[in-house]
Order: sequence, then C-alpha cells, then structure tokens
Amino acid sequence: MKDASPQTIYLKDYTPPAYLVDSVHLTFRLAPTATRVLSRIAFRPNPDATSSDFLLHGEDLTLISAKIDGAPLTPDVTPTGLRCTVPNAPFIFEAEVEISPETNTALEGLYMSNGMYCTQCEAEGFRKITYYPDRPDVMGVFTTRIESDLPVLLSNGNPTDQGDGWAEWHDPWPKPAYLFALVAGDLVNHPDRFTTRSGKHVALNIWVRPGDEGKCAFGMEALKKSMTWDEDVYGREYDLDIFNIVAVDDFNMGAMENKGLNIFNSSAVLASPETATDANFERIEAIIAHEYFHNWTGNRITCRDWFQLCLKEGLTVFRDQQFTGDMRGDAVKRISDAVVLRAHQFREDNGPLAHPVRPDSFVEINNFYTVTVYEKGAEIIGMLKRLVGDDAYAKALDLYFARHDGDAATIEDWLKVFEDATGRDLTQFAKWYSQAGTPRVKVHEDFADGTYTLTLSQHTPSTPGQDHKEPLVIPVAFGLLNDNGDEILPTQVLELTKAEQSFTFDNLSSRPIASILRDFSAPVILQRAQTNVERAFLLAHDTDPFNKWDAGRMLAQDVLLRMVRDDATPDSAYLDGLAVVARDDNLAPAFRALVLSLPTEDDTAQALVDCDEIPDPAAIYTAHEALKLHIAQHLQDPLPRLYAEMTVSGLYSPEAEAAGKRSLGNALLMLMSRLDGGKQAAQQYTGADNMTQQLAALNALLKIGKGQAELQAFADQWQHDRLVMDKWFGLQVACAAPDAAATTAEKLTRHPDFEMKNPNRFRAVFGALKSNAAGFHDPSGVGYDLMADWLIKLDALNPQTTARMVSAFDTWKRYDTDRQSKMRAALQRIAATPNLSRDTTEMVTRLLG
Ligand code: PHE
Ligand code: ZN
Repeated sequence: MKDASPQTIYLKDYTPPAYLVDSVHLTFRLAPTATRVLSRIAFRPNPDATSSDFLLHGEDLTLISAKIDGAPLTPDVTPTGLRCTVPNAPFIFEAEVEISPETNTALEGLYMSNGMYCTQCEAEGFRKITYYPDRPDVMGVFTTRIESDLPVLLSNGNPTDQGDGWAEWHDPWPKPAYLFALVAGDLVNHPDRFTTRSGKHVALNIWVRPGDEGKCAFGMEALKKSMTWDEDVYGREYDLDIFNIVAVDDFNMGAMENKGLNIFNSSAVLASPETATDANFERIEAIIAHEYFHNWTGNRITCRDWFQLCLKEGLTVFRDQQFTGDMRGDAVKRISDAVVLRAHQFREDNGPLAHPVRPDSFVEINNFYTVTVYEKGAEIIGMLKRLVGDDAYAKALDLYFARHDGDAATIEDWLKVFEDATGRDLTQFAKWYSQAGTPRVKVHEDFADGTYTLTLSQHTPSTPGQDHKEPLVIPVAFGLLNDNGDEILPTQVLELTKAEQSFTFDNLSSRPIASILRDFSAPVILQRAQTNVERAFLLAHDTDPFNKWDAGRMLAQDVLLRMVRDDATPDSAYLDGLAVVARDDNLAPAFRALVLSLPTEDDTAQALVDCDEIPDPAAIYTAHEALKLHIAQHLQDPLPRLYAEMTVSGLYSPEAEAAGKRSLGNALLMLMSRLDGGKQAAQQYTGADNMTQQLAALNALLKIGKGQAELQAFADQWQHDRLVMDKWFGLQVACAAPDAAATTAEKLTRHPDFEMKNPNRFRAVFGALKSNAAGFHDPSGVGYDLMADWLIKLDALNPQTTARMVSAFDTWKRYDTDRQSKMRAALQRIAATPNLSRDTTEMVTRLLG
C-alpha cells in the first residue's frame, strides 16, 4: 500500500545527499515470487551534506537481514524506507531482501513479462529492488551478479564472467540507480558490431523472444546510424564494449536508456514490412536514436533531481528530432513535430494539467513524463539554438560535455554553459523553463510610404498556480514576399522580448506579404487577422515549407469553424489551393500528404474555445466529415491518376521516399473511398504486401462503415502477432462512429485477447477512445463511464498507465454544463475509489482542481 497522505515535493527544498555511494555489488537469486537481492554498498559521508541522517529508500521489500561493516543490525523499517545509525566515516552497508517479480503488475522495479525478468527503475523504481538512496545525484559504480537457470542474463556495463546458472557484469561508469537494469530470459539475439571513430569495437545485440528474430534488422540499422550521427554531429562516442537492446512486451512507456542495456517496449523496436507500418518504422528509428543519445545526454551527464528532468529529456528529444530531420527530411519532420506539439502539448498547457517545463512541485514524478517536459523542453532548445546561431550552439554543447561529464546537473548549469560560450545574458530566456502556458502572439501590420511595420504583442493566459505571466524571449523567424510571390526579405530572426514591440522594414515598392513564425520558430499561438486569399497566397508561394503548410492548415481551420458555426460551404480559396498542391510534382509527396491532412477535431474544439465559444464535439465531427467529402469531390478528377502515381513497386522499403509516396497515396485513398464506396480500398487491401498498405486500406473501409469481412480476415491472419493485433483493437475504436465508439470499445474489452495488464493492449482500446473525440464525448456519457470503469480497474494493477490515461478528461472544463457534470462525476467516482494509487490521486486532484 502507498502512504495514506502523499507528500508534495518542492524544487526549492532540494538538499544534497547525506551519504555518497562509491560502489555497489548486487546479487540476484531469481525466482518468480521469491527473488533474493543481496546488496553490498560502500558509502561515505558527503562533505557537502546538511544532515547526517542515514536514510535509504525501499518499497514493497521484505528485509531478511542487514549489516554495517559486517555487524548485523536491526534498522528502523517503514513502508517507504529504512533508517539506522552509521559511522561518521566510510562504511559498508549490506542487506538481503526478498521481492516478488511475478506479482509486480505495476511494471516498475523487477517484474516479469512472458516468463522473462526485466527491470524498470526510472524514476523511482530501484527502491522496489533493494534499499538504496534512490535519487539521481547519488552515483555509484555497479557490479551485478545474476543467478538463474535462464539462458540469457544481462545487466549494465561489460560482461566480466559467467558460468552455469550465473553471470556477472561490471559497469565502470558511475551512475544513478534509475539507470540500473537487469534482464533474464529465454532470448535470442540479432548481433552486429560497430567500430567507433577512435577505433573502439563495440558488440551490438538486439535481444528478443524466439520468433521475433526476423523483426530486428531495421532497429539494428537505426542503432548504427544513431551511433555514427552522434559522432558526426555532436562528437560523442560510445563508451562500453557492448550495447544491448532488449524487447519487452509489457512496458509502461516507449523505451528506457539504462546504461549499456536499453529496454524497449517491443512496439518501439520490432518491425518487419508485413507487420509494421511506415509510421512504426519511423517511430522505431527515432526511439532507438533517442535512447542511444541518452548515453551522453542523460547518462554521462544526468540530472541532479527529478525537477531537472527536461535537462535530459528536452535535449535528447531535440537531438532525436535533428537526427530524424537529417535521415528523412527537415521540413516534413518539423511539420510533424509541430502537429504533435499543437495537438498534445498545447492541449496540456490550456487545461488543468498545465505545468512548467521544469515543474516546481510534484507528488508523483511519474506524472511529469509529459509532452510539456519532453516536447516543449525540446522546443526551448530549438529556440536557444536559433537565438545564438549554429556555431555558438555547437560551442556551447562542447563546453557542456567538457564541463559536466560525470555530473548530476541542473538547468542553471545548462544555461550557464550557453552564457559562458556566447556572452549572452539568458536571465529572461530562462523563464521558458519556469513559466507554464502557451504564449499568444498577436500580429498587427501597417504599410505606409514604403515602410512596413510589424507590431507583435505577447500574452500568456494564466495556468493553475500561476496567474501572473511575464514576457518571454520569443524568436520569430520572419520573411517578406512581394505580390508576385518572390521573396524580398529572406528569413531573419526577430527577437520579441517585450509585451509589445514593433519592427520596421522600409524602401518597399508595394505592400509586402509577411511570412511570420517560419519553421515554427517558437511554441506559441500566432493570432493574425488574415484573409483566406492571403493565406492561399502563402500556401501557393511561401518559400518556407513550414509556413507554406501552415497557411493551408489555417485555411482548413477557418473553413471548419465556419462549417461548425453555420454549415457554410468550404471556401474555394482553400479547395483550389489544395488541388494545386496535391498536383504539384515539385513538392515531396510526404509534404503534400501533410497539406491534405486536417487539424484534429480536438484542435478545432480548442480553436472554438479560443474564440470564447463552447465546442460541440458532434457538430465538429459532422463538419470534419463534410469537409473531407467536399475535398474528395473537389479533387474527384485527378484522384485516380494521382493515386496511381503514388504506387511504389518492388520490394518494400521503409525509407522516407517510398514512405512519403505511400502516405500521399493513402491520403488520396481515404478521399476516394468517400466517392467509390470503398472499391479502391478493398482492392488495395487484397493486393497489399505490407502493413502500411493493408492497414490504410482497412482504415479507409472502416471509416465509411464498410470492411467487416476484411476486419475478420485481418484477425485471422494476425491473431498470433500481439503488435499487429494492437492495431486491430485500436483501429475499430478509432474508426467507430460517435454513437458506437464506446460500445465498440466495451465489446473489445470482452474479447478473449483483451489483456488489461498489457499496457499496449489497454492503450490500443482506451487510447483510441480518448482520441475519438466525438465518440468519447458522446452526449450520452457512455464514453466517460466506460473510461472511468476501466481506469478504476487498472489502477489496482498499474497506477502509472492509469494515471497517464486519466488525461483523457483534461479538457472537461471547455464543454457544455451537461458534459461537464458527467465528466466531473466520472472523475469524482475515480477519486472516491478506495486505495487509489498516489499516481492517479494526484492526477484526478489536479484535473478537478
Ligand atoms: N527515460 C525514458 C525516455 O525518455 C522514458 C521512461 C521514463 C521510460 C520512465 C520508463 C519510465 O527515453
Ligand atoms: Zn528520454
């Protein structure tokens, strides 16, 4: 059981650890319900300490025995840890504890997944393995011995010795306990090797369950590309003799960067053309890169405390975004990242869960692995790079690695490096880390006597606990076009630092057309009164790919808002502009597919809220459906030809070019199916030889209420493949009509293969319900009730996954009183559940607050 009264932890209360760890020796005697963990830890008093209390964290442990310097003792044990008196000099602490991995359904600490033992220690899971100062600023050198009959026994660092039923590992790099990992199982590997640029040989392995060995090749290539890229771009080499990746079916997150032993959700590493979509391939490449990049940004330089989480995550996300941009094209990557940021991070920032990129308090740190910390954290780094320039950024990063290698660092350390490398004062810029909320930047334009004046004003709405907001440093990438569409002012960066500021450009022969916030240069909402004719002009002519796309996006949003409000027919400026882009062979297919995509229904809802209107999810759904039909009809003539042009022949390749063609082809297929009753989609389904084409066809059919035979055939074909069946579960809920989404989800929970303990399967169904906006918000309230019922059930097994999913309710305050009261009732019902986890309690409290 968790504590009765969970405590709030504050950044301002940080104190250094009382004792430091030099070395740790661990022995694991593995057994499903009675694993013994023996620890031998060399401690010494910390000269910088403010206290001499010896306190070790520990949860769900049975203490068998403890010793200090060989002498047995009986410590004072509580449900959260252990305390005892210790010498005022270096000493050895030893303990033996018993734990039960098989019954650990929270998937934190040591647990079992399909007969395999594995660990997840970030953020505070090591305390469920043994008694330890489980905080990232305590770094020790780990030696691990594993005793088990299972054939593959892995831990961090390099293998040192092994025998029948045991193996030993030693990690020479001091690390915090959250980077500890152990795996034991009946696994097969996909081996390879890599030579670093200084000539060091590294053995690479991807370990999987027998049967999955054919799904590792792509991940391995991604790993080698990541290793090369980090050498080339950041000058960072790998630092052990071996790098292991393990695929695990039951995992709460995407993957984990444990030193030398990355553990992956199998969905984030396993891929074959038949079973994984292009989107899956791209995600796998990005996550492999992300975890690998953590070796320097996270492991060699770690975080002083969990408030500094964005120090490693923001930077590592930024690095993986750069990597994907280099591998697959910067423009499409930037647009995709902006889509995610707007859909998820802006949503978080606009609701009751808003928090700064570096929060100043938390109850359960697991609740702060958020889009704000990760994605907005990455945006802050992008802004910094844009402000100081690429060369200064590289210089600052070199200084960061040189100065802080081996440290548990802070955001202050990070910013100081930039100040020292560039001489720039970052006092105001630092507010991006402490101020929550999405700034609104209002645009006012004037033109007189050959002078164009751009006036920008910024305002950040208040967020929970932060009423007062100050102006931020906002880099606004900006360019000007003339009315022929020629660029007359190439991109330059304007620095908006005040509440309101004007910038003038003179000697212009006619009124220019401004392209503002190019490349999405800051995570802000631009408020610009612009005609659709002007937007269509930018869609046709902007030289900045992001703003070209965004002009189309703003047109679409405007059209949707008018359709929601008064059933208006779509503006022809939009439809004509789309038709031109769709046909433009000079534009990459992936880009054209993005232009054809619409904002999400949730984006449209937020846009209405921004106009002080109450969104009706049903009306928004109707407008989106109607618009898709209008687009299909408008493109009717060229559709079949364009679709045929996107055919990719030959062997499947997950590379960007082929994937881009498929993504445009499938966007066109979705449109065609609204006109031909699914004829083309059914044909594509039958002929598909890869999952991208097969799933897209099924998606198109289900979306128009067809495809039941294909759905059954799909299940028959793939019932043995968990990852593919996750798609089968999710797609049905995602494609269900609003009044059928909850009943579809409910029916699927009764399917024999619905396994609530498996986070991927649970998320397939309930994540899809959350994303099906009109379905989740069906006026009957069945979506809310079903979600609440299952979150209550899951909380008893897996608090972390439950707490993340409760965010489905984070927009409740924007709706009508009827929906509001139904959602509030659902949240209160969750809150009133006896023994609700600390994780979920904190989330519902914030949501209701
Ligand atoms: N640190 C992991 C990452 O971003 C995410 C993670 C957090 C995984 C907590 C598991 C638990 O790469
Ligand atoms: Zn990470």
